[in-house]
Amino acid sequence: MEEEILKVKNERENIIKTYSAKPIKNTYLDDLAQNSRDLQYVTIKEIIEETPDVKSFILIPDPTKETSELIPFKAGEYISLKMFIDNAYVTRAYSLSSNPKDSLKEYRITIKRVEKGLVSNIMLDEMKVGDGLTISKPVGEFGYNPIRDENNIIAIAGGSGITPFMSLAYEIENNYPQAELTVFYAVKTYDDIIFKKEIDHFNKKSKRVKFVVSLTREEKEGYLKGHFNKEMLEPYMKEFNTVLMCGPKTLYQDMNEILNEFNIPKKCVHFENFFIDYTPNIKDEYELKVILKNDFVITKCHSDETLLVAMEKAEIKAPSMCRVGICGFCKSILLEGKVKMIGSNMVSTLAENDYIHPCVTYPESDIVLRLDI
Ligand code: FES
Repeated sequence: MEEEILKVKNERENIIKTYSAKPIKNTYLDDLAQNSRDLQYVTIKEIIEETPDVKSFILIPDPTKETSELIPFKAGEYISLKMFIDNAYVTRAYSLSSNPKDSLKEYRITIKRVEKGLVSNIMLDEMKVGDGLTISKPVGEFGYNPIRDENNIIAIAGGSGITPFMSLAYEIENNYPQAELTVFYAVKTYDDIIFKKEIDHFNKKSKRVKFVVSLTREEKEGYLKGHFNKEMLEPYMKEFNTVLMCGPKTLYQDMNEILNEFNIPKKCVHFENFFIDYTPNIKDEYELKVILKNDFVITKCHSDETLLVAMEKAEIKAPSMCRVGICGFCKSILLEGKVKMIGSNMVSTLAENDYIHPCVTYPESDIVLRLDI
């Protein structure tokens, strides 16, 4: 027995030594330490049924777990919800949809049911008032930046992509008297409109915030009909504009064509993207070896799932926030193997240094990955 333990111990030490030649920069470790301090423990104070498949959750601090106040956020930021489901650690990013002015005492996240969605379905079907949740600090770069942006803001939202713009509406109204915001919001039918009361309130009371709602599959008095087009946007465009977009992939494709017609410079167009779109050519299963600080784990990974998902299924607490290759929080070192990374230029740059973002990386062979946790 002792021999066996010694053998395993030696094997582990060898693996850790072999794969430790390349140091991870201090900043990464600092970030990890910093972010683990920024976890927040909250309780669900209220659940609001927005539409048949969308609910809002009002989250308040849980002082019994040492969260006495929430960390303030800026409109456009999101939190990462952390859960342990079916023996796996999972995270999901949700935009904050509440008034940033209230952020010390409460957040609102608004969640749409996703077909076969693991976390969204648990949130919508099982969570109740009084339940506790663990969330990250607010993060993200999306939103209005008075130094960078023009003061005429055109926000374009599809479906649940409205969530960051509801926060933004409050922020513009309360904090930026120089700015005007028009939110173009497309939904299928009248019943699919999220935040209907708040939209009506802004449209009645505000001089600088306006919502233009279009129903793509229904005609109704007071609402536009169909997908947004150049004619619908034209009356709200000024000489200089900033465009913000949030919604499904098709929204970006359609709107990019329309925005080209207005000659809006690319630097004035910003978008929030919470989806990845990839189907591997071949379906296969590989071995994934994850070297941790004082240990290693060997598991399986499939060509159609990201390395992050494979690690979560193996109960590895791999760090993650955005899950779409933007935040850099999951950054790890690829020691061996061939991968397919999708997403931003940042990912390709990292790849040249053997750094990858497991949240947008798919295996194409057996993989050895180093993760400093
Ligand atoms: S979780 Fe944000 S880049 Fe991977």
